[in-house]
Amino acid sequence: MKSAELAQHFENLFGSQPRVFCAPGRVNLLGEHTDYNDGFVMPCAIGFSTRVAISPRPDRKLVIRSEEFSEQLEFDLDHLPSRGKGGWSDYVLGIAVMLQEIGHPALGASLLVRGEVPIGAGLSSSAAIEVASALALMSLNGTRLPLPEVAQLCQRAENVFIGARVGIMDQFVSCLGKAGHALLLDCRSLEFKLIPIPENVRLVICNTMVKHDHASGAYNRRREECDEGVRILTRWYPDARALRDISLEQLEQHTAEIPATIYKRCLHVVSENQRVLEGAKYLVQGDVSRFGSLMRESHRSLRDLFEVSCRELDIMVEIAESLDGYCGGRMTGGGFGGCTVNLVNVADASRFAGQLSERYQAAIGIKPDVYVCSAANGASADLNGAA
Ligand code: GLA
Repeated sequence: MKSAELAQHFENLFGSQPRVFCAPGRVNLLGEHTDYNDGFVMPCAIGFSTRVAISPRPDRKLVIRSEEFSEQLEFDLDHLPSRGKGGWSDYVLGIAVMLQEIGHPALGASLLVRGEVPIGAGLSSSAAIEVASALALMSLNGTRLPLPEVAQLCQRAENVFIGARVGIMDQFVSCLGKAGHALLLDCRSLEFKLIPIPENVRLVICNTMVKHDHASGAYNRRREECDEGVRILTRWYPDARALRDISLEQLEQHTAEIPATIYKRCLHVVSENQRVLEGAKYLVQGDVSRFGSLMRESHRSLRDLFEVSCRELDIMVEIAESLDGYCGGRMTGGGFGGCTVNLVNVADASRFAGQLSERYQAAIGIKPDVYVCSAANGASADLNGAA
C-alpha cells in the first residue's frame, strides 16, 4: 500500500511509472560498538522503512526528490562530487559515487524518497536510505551484487562520501534482516545466523527525543581509542589485529600497563563480544530472562566503561527496570541520545509502553515516542507496488 502510494506520487511528479525499493531501519539488541572492532553484533530490522521510487531518464542526470523536503535536486552523473555536502541527498549520491568506483556507474534516473525511519533517533535512517537507493540505482544499470556486498558498498558510501566511520552492522541488517529473527553477525567474516526471537516477547523501542551534538565526533574518537588499545595490546599479542582477537583474560593481565580510559574502552568491547556470543545461546534456548540480564549488563558497560550513554538514556533505562513484564533493556545504537530497546513480555507490552512514556515525561519534561515492535524483514523490491 505504502509503495503503491509512493508510486502514484512519483507518477504525478515525473509522469512515468517507477519501481519501488524498500529498506528498513534497525534496532540493535546486543553488541554495541563492537562492529568496527571486527566483533559480534545482534541487531534486527524494524518495521520502519525508507522507500525509493525510481525510473530511468534519457539524460545523464540524477534528479532526486524527497517527500519530507520540498526541494528537487539535480546532479550531473559525469561530474559527481567526491564528498557529501551535508544534505539528505548525500545518502543517494554517495551510492552513485561508490557504484562508479566499483565500475558500475549509475544511469540517468529520477528518484523519489519516502522515509519513515525517525531521523537522528539511532534507528539507522541513513542505512535505510542507502540500501534502498543502492537497490534502486542497481536495478537500472543491471548490477547484481550479493546482499552482503550491497551492505559493504553502502558502508563505504557512509565512510568515504559522508565521512562517518561507521561499522557494517546497520547496512548489513537492513539488507539481510528477517521477520521474527535477530541477526547474529560476525563483523569480520560477515558470516551470520538468524535466531528466532521468542514469540512471548516484544521489542519496545523508546526514543529519548534527544541527540547530543557531540555524538558524531565522540563516535570517531571512540574508534580511535579502540585502535589505540589494539596498538598497545600488540606489544604482548603481536597477532592481534583488532579487539576481537583479545580475550578478557589477556586484557586483564595488563590492567596496570594500559592508560585508564583506553583500558575501559577495551574492557567494554571485549566483554560485549562475549555477551553477544553468550546471548545468542540464550536466545536459541528461548531464555529471555538471561538474555535480558546481558542487555542490562551491556547498558552498564556502555554507561560506565565506554561512556556513550547520557542522562536521558540512563533515566529511561532506570524507569524500565521498575515496570512489570520487563526482561531487560539498554541504550541502542551509537549513543549520546536516541533510543532504548526493551524486551517485554507480550501481555505487558502496551501497558509498559504507556507507563514508561508517562514516567519519562514526568522526569525529563519531554514526551518520548514509544514503539511496540517485532523484528521485520530486510530490504526488498516491491515489484508490483503492493507492499
Ligand atoms: C552506529 C554505527 C554502527 C555501530 C553503532 C554502535 O549505529 O552506524 O556501525 O558502530 O553505532 O554499535
